[in-house]
Amino acid sequence: MKILIKNGTLVTSENVLREDLCIDRGIVHSIGKSDMFIPDEIIDADGLYVFPGGVDVHTHLNLHQGLYIAADDFYSGTVAAACGGTTTIVDHMGFGPSGCSLKHQVDVYHDYADAQAVIDYSFHGVIQHVDDKILSEMASIVEEEGITSFKIYLTYDYKLDDHAVLQVMNRLRELGAVTAIHCENDGILSYFKDYYLKRNQTGPIFHAHSRPEEAEAEAVGRMIILSKLAGDAPIYVVHVSTAKAAKLIADAKRMGCNVRGETCPQYLFLDQERYNDSNHGGLKYIMSPPLRDKANQELLWTYIKSGTIDTIGTDHCPFNFHGDKQAGRNDFSKCPNGAPGIETRLPLLFSEGVMKQRISLQEFVAITSTNPAKLMGLYPKKGDIRVGSDADLTLIDPHKEITLTHDLLHEHVDYTCYEGFKLHGYPVITLSRGEIIYRNGEFTGRKGHGQFIKRKKVTDGVWGK
Ligand code: URP
Ligand code: ZN
Ligand code: ZN
Repeated sequence: MKILIKNGTLVTSENVLREDLCIDRGIVHSIGKSDMFIPDEIIDADGLYVFPGGVDVHTHLNLHQGLYIAADDFYSGTVAAACGGTTTIVDHMGFGPSGCSLKHQVDVYHDYADAQAVIDYSFHGVIQHVDDKILSEMASIVEEEGITSFKIYLTYDYKLDDHAVLQVMNRLRELGAVTAIHCENDGILSYFKDYYLKRNQTGPIFHAHSRPEEAEAEAVGRMIILSKLAGDAPIYVVHVSTAKAAKLIADAKRMGCNVRGETCPQYLFLDQERYNDSNHGGLKYIMSPPLRDKANQELLWTYIKSGTIDTIGTDHCPFNFHGDKQAGRNDFSKCPNGAPGIETRLPLLFSEGVMKQRISLQEFVAITSTNPAKLMGLYPKKGDIRVGSDADLTLIDPHKEITLTHDLLHEHVDYTCYEGFKLHGYPVITLSRGEIIYRNGEFTGRKGHGQFIKRKKVTDGVWGK
């Protein structure tokens, strides 16, 4: 299948070009003159921006969280991603049975995803405990499975202590892989959780109060130090929610530390006042880290602009408000953590970022596609429009005005955090490896079209001091 995209404005993290784009068998064939190219289909992109497809390296599909299972699986979640302009995800595998091997969870996740995903995907490995067997097994997960990043948590059931973190960071550095970290100080969280519950302060706002900004900042600062002690091991701090933590990353980068940072739309567009929504509506926003004081938002934009924050992921982890989220009705600590966002990431950042001139077109591409692709070993197959890259594209109409509502979205969950947001600009076409998988509000792709991507190891060009 040959496709010609005519009259569009192509945007990469470096350039804005008014050129034709020729696609042959799923790959970018040429950019520029198209006279000699005989297409099967022409897409007229007059008035549209043509971006590399979005790369979301923080999702939780099929997640089993205690008694609860996330509302999106690899089919519905990737359909929603595609309809929001995202063409690649790297999913954070959930915890497996206690003591299980690394390969166990990889196999479980292949079962979840392989015949289901409609866009290309990979997984972050998950480290639940550390011993010689796990440290040795990491090599085959990197070399044979092509999984070159691993997630560790400093809180939740399988939190790692500093000794274990150092073992993981050192080993992954040796193997050319990245340590991705959920940074919150578990002792601070458990102290404040007990404190509020003992006083019968059980509403959603106490979820936020029990996870203070300092708990994130302390953990981020400590991880930066541990990365240094682990020979400058590459670390990726997921879901940075506060200016305090971002400042630590900025300072560390200035000193040459091998750290990169991700934030998420919820920390840019929502604040902790949401926990006071009536009728227990605050439960919708119970996620970790929690929504923060609004003052953080403009500062986070500054850290995006300055390059301290490298990427924007979603942390898409949906639970139904009228279902599982109600478990937190009488006790915030019983509410499954997480919120949806896989479909709204690009539209929100385009409208509130580019159209409101907080970031340039190129910066939009960098934080939503090119940087995550580079940092997670997907580049240049993903994250760019260049000859030889996969023809993963999202076409955004900057004149399309949309009011976000749950009904408009394809996420398989009963609410969106962004109900009523008025957006300027919206994706109108998404292509995955040259196939049109979304057009004007409709999913047009195929179950199982998505392919698992074996990722590259970390290289000094992208990572490093
Ligand atoms: O509350 C959240 N973010 N749930 C998903 C798991 C995690 O911590 O990323
Ligand atoms: Zn997390
Ligand atoms: Zn997460």
